[in-house]
Amino acid sequence: MDIVRSVADLRARVRGWHARGERVALTPTMGALHDGHLSLVALGQHNADRVVATIFVNPTQFGANEDLDGYPRNEARDADLLSRGGCDLLFAPAVGEMYPPGFSTRVIVDGLTDVLCGAVRPGHFDGVAQVVTKLLNQAQADVAIFGEKDWQQLAVIRRLTRDLDIPTEILGAPILREPDGLAMSSRNRYLTADERAVAGTLNQALREAAQRIVAGQDIPSELAAARAAILGAGFASIDYVELREADTLAEVVRFDPTVPTRIFGAARLGRARLIDNMPVEG
Ligand code: PAJ
Repeated sequence: MDIVRSVADLRARVRGWHARGERVALTPTMGALHDGHLSLVALGQHNADRVVATIFVNPTQFGANEDLDGYPRNEARDADLLSRGGCDLLFAPAVGEMYPPGFSTRVIVDGLTDVLCGAVRPGHFDGVAQVVTKLLNQAQADVAIFGEKDWQQLAVIRRLTRDLDIPTEILGAPILREPDGLAMSSRNRYLTADERAVAGTLNQALREAAQRIVAGQDIPSELAAARAAILGAGFASIDYVELREADTLAEVVRFDPTVPTRIFGAARLGRARLIDNMPVEG
């Protein structure tokens, strides 16, 4: 697996594959790879002839008091995992390649970014939309794969590709979880052993609420019970536990099994902020 650092080299490689009639998949990441990321590469292999992964810790999507400087970086380890996972090319640009002096264009996706993580992390999805627009335009892949773990991010990316006529197809990948239900995340390594032991409660509480809501129980009571269970397990605070339509992210006050609906949760445990979501369906 080769590593390229410039947009020109990335484009040249993809152009070569396209000239041979090969289909190309893109899997953007911020590195610190785990099996969840590698499942995106596997899905890319399933959907295309070539897989390009990107590693770029995008500064514009981190808030002033978030973990940009401390975000785990180990390119050699990541490159090894990608190579063994069947990835054909790694694009790992420096910040200056992505945001050269004078860079001044922003990408704002209205509405979808006001709720859930967008409400708690102002500007986060502006940075995600900005960098993903660039990565999609840089790579010119046929398909790009994003995890359902970051469901709101996936919704924002689907919307911006549609609105900006970006011809790359967007594919969602199922959430990879630890045996206790905890969604795999680069940030799980921030958890101490004691915190890790209770981290699965976020997933369990959402799953129980989802089952009870499908069974007809009162939505506000079930969301409140989930919050109580998460706090009771030792989480420091809850950013949100909410029921929303899967595509529009509109709040759901009355469950309708014919409308795709998901339950979303975000809570803080030690140094980590954990998120999860799942479908609410019969
Ligand atoms: P990062 O957090 O590194 O995640 C890269 C991709 O892996 C995202 O599409 C994310 O949803 C997916 N992913 C992470 N954990 C997963 C899991 N347990 N199961 C399935 N997929 C999982 O998300 C980002 O980076 C950035 O915001 C990015 C899109 C690269 C833009 O900077």
